[in-house]
Amino acid sequence: MKSELKIKAIENGTVIDHITANKSLHILKILGLPDGKVKNVTVAMNVSSSETGRKDIVKIENREIDHQELNQIALIAPKATINIIRDYEVIKKDKIILPEEITSIIKCTNAKCITNYVSEPITSKFNVIETQPSVLRCHYCGKLIKHEDIEKQFE
Ligand code: CTP
Ligand code: ZN
Repeated sequence: MKSELKIKAIENGTVIDHITANKSLHILKILGLPDGKVKNVTVAMNVSSSETGRKDIVKIENREIDHQELNQIALIAPKATINIIRDYEVIKKDKIILPEEITSIIKCTNAKCITNYVSEPITSKFNVIETQPSVLRCHYCGKLIKHEDIEKQFE
């Protein structure tokens, strides 16, 4: 018998499952928790998973996360699955796909990059050149942003 920690099932909303262990707080940042945009969230951290050993789970009630947000989660948790719940049933299950281009959430680590000019800020834009772990290239200055640099920005 599986001995998995049971967290309360939700009636409606989104369950992000199979998040890399201990990365759920990064995910909440991507989803806008600091701005109060995310409400009624349950987080399980470092729980045992039959497949990967340990994982995090995030459950968001009464909100179906949109695609733009989902894809950005892939930067942090490439193996996550997204479950849309309606009336207690999983009506949709998606693996996250990292888009070819990432805008706005990450900052270029080149201080001289045009996206970091204070007087005329430009929205950052990166091409995804590797996944698992992710590596990005700044569209404007070509600087490579490695996985560690990406994670640091969510701490
Ligand atoms: N879940 C939930 N509330 C529901 C239904 C499901 O919180 N009303 C959660 C489950 O606890 C699980 C995730 O949503 O974390 C996916 O549910 P389900 O597909 O039933 O589980 P598994 O088959 O184990 O999923 P997977 O194969 O993706 O591991
Ligand atoms: Zn740059």
